[in-house]
Amino acid sequence: MSGPTTVRCESVAATRECAARVAALARPGQLVVLVGPLGAGKTTFVQGYAAALGVTSPVTSPSFTLAHHYACGPGAPVALLVHADLWRLDGPGEVADLALDEVLDEGAAAIVEWGDRFDAARGRDRVVVTFRVVDDEARELVVDLDAANLGPDGRL
Ligand SMILES: Nc1ncnc2c1ncn2[C@@H]1O[C@H](COP(=O)(O)OP(=O)(O)OP(=O)(O)O)[C@@H](O)[C@H]1O
Ligand SMILES: [Mg+2]
Repeated sequence: MSGPTTVRCESVAATRECAARVAALARPGQLVVLVGPLGAGKTTFVQGYAAALGVTSPVTSPSFTLAHHYACGPGAPVALLVHADLWRLDGPGEVADLALDEVLDEGAAAIVEWGDRFDAARGRDRVVVTFRVVDDEARELVVDLDAANLGPDGRL
């Protein structure tokens, strides 16, 4: 995939498979920003992304902690995956508390739900995935692999 690519995902499995394809391109310091409404499939995508990086622990949205840190499997391009969800955060100060820039500088990869709520890690190596709910089972995902300079609303 290169440039914005639209992928139609007709099932949870298809969304996970799309995530695995994006994960195949993961590299140290890269942030994946997930944009889309409640129930669009962002956490589902993170599950597929993490699985493709060899994460074996269960992947759930962070609620009581700001971010989850997952150890990746042997052979993965990154050793650590950080998963955050900005939905529950109150403002840019709390986003700063996530220390995303720091973990990315240390060579982790990060994936952030509701990443368009605040201007997380703008200007970095970013992939933006925008979700549209088509119907109960289908989602349309627009994957932009070179999104460092998108607007803070994540629009493509
Ligand atoms: N093609 C699909 N891709 C992903 N999820 C799907 C798909 N079809 C149906 N679903 C359902 O949609 C829901 C997606 O939930 P998920 O928690 O992944 O969404 P979310 O975007 O993370 O929501 P939130 O904004 O609340 O965090 C699940 O119940 C899942 O079974
Ligand atoms: Mg979620």
